Amino acid sequence: MSHKIALAFEDGITQFIQCDENQTIADAAYQARINIPFDCRDGACGTCKSFCEAGDFDEGSFIDDALTEDELESGYLLTCQSKPLSDMVIQIASTSEQAKTSASLAKGSIRSLERISPGVFKLSLAIEKRDELHYLPGQYINVSVPTWDQSRSYSFSCSPSKNEVTFLIKLTPGGLMTEYLKEEAKIGDELNLVGPMGTFFLREPLNPILLLAGGTGLAPILAILESLSEDELLDVPVRLMYGVTQECDLVELNKLDAFRDSLPDFDYLTVVSDPDSQHECKGYVTDHIAPEMLGNGDTDVYLCGPPLMVEAVRKFLAAQENPPQNFYFEKFTSPVSAVS
Ligand SMILES: Cc1cc2nc3c(=O)[nH]c(=O)nc-3n(C[C@H](O)[C@H](O)[C@H](O)COP(=O)(O)OP(=O)(O)OC[C@H]3O[C@@H](n4cnc5c(N)ncnc54)[C@H](O)[C@@H]3O)c2cc1C
Ligand code: FES
Repeated sequence: MSHKIALAFEDGITQFIQCDENQTIADAAYQARINIPFDCRDGACGTCKSFCEAGDFDEGSFIDDALTEDELESGYLLTCQSKPLSDMVIQIASTSEQAKTSASLAKGSIRSLERISPGVFKLSLAIEKRDELHYLPGQYINVSVPTWDQSRSYSFSCSPSKNEVTFLIKLTPGGLMTEYLKEEAKIGDELNLVGPMGTFFLREPLNPILLLAGGTGLAPILAILESLSEDELLDVPVRLMYGVTQECDLVELNKLDAFRDSLPDFDYLTVVSDPDSQHECKGYVTDHIAPEMLGNGDTDVYLCGPPLMVEAVRKFLAAQENPPQNFYFEKFTSPVSAVS
């Protein structure tokens, strides 16, 4: 049975979609080419949290970090998990303009694949019909694993203005994409892409910006930095804290150095968590965030990295006297770790 769902956007526009009882609201919206916010699609990140104004639904499964029982009681749902039991009206936390950036299919072929550290590949793809693939700096795309009916999410590590697109991919022993890249991938291989996806993207840079990256969480941060460097009117300070486990995990430092010249006011700090490291700054990024970096809560903070790091930073920021008012984050959840 199919139900009519009204998606009410922040700018007052309402769009109607049909959704089957065995289909999630996010999937139905996606089919209708309406790009409502979501990230993990696993009930793990909470990005798709929306308010149900009317109607009944099966809430699906999720973890507490994404939606608490109290929130569920007061009418919130996760569109990536919820299936309708009646017609519904749902408030979507984005504008209709953002929602119309519908995900599309693209084909990429491998231009280069380079192991830029013991644990990280840099993948560069030439995109067929490049002018039809639009994305915002910070967003990601789902990349198919050849010969498997599966895909993995990767954040673009370059500005949307670039012709070839690049990704930083951490080697995860035993992982599907990792094994493909290590053992089989060769120049010219074709990969299917679906996207762009995600609500982690650069907003208009009106306030000082603090970027926090963990491991290959540097990828979307590089895309953001490169886009900022193309903005001739940029006049806000930009700071980056980049944390890794071992010093040899640090990548793309030349690029980061070059942003010191191409951005009006940019600096960055690398932090290594291995206690035996000789690196100048040790520990976690939270050990090195000085209060002035957060201003009086008026610094725009962008955070990307593995789930544990993102959670630690979120707690740290929430505990500040003046937590940042504009705080955006992306967790690199793996399909396996996201299962609740
Ligand atoms: C929004 C988003 C953006 C992302 N962007 C990036 C990015 O830019 N760069 C990046 O490096 N990563 C990124 N990721 C993570 C990425 O999508 C993959 O999860 C990661 O690359 C691992 O993929 P894989 O196929 O190599 O490993 P997977 O096949 O997913 O395996 C992951 C781990 O689980 C183990 N495993 C597999 N199956 C099972 C099982 N059944 N039971 C127990 N263990 C199992 C594997 O051995 C491996 O250790 C992002 C994730 C999200 C959600
Ligand atoms: S997209 Fe729904 S919880 Fe992550």
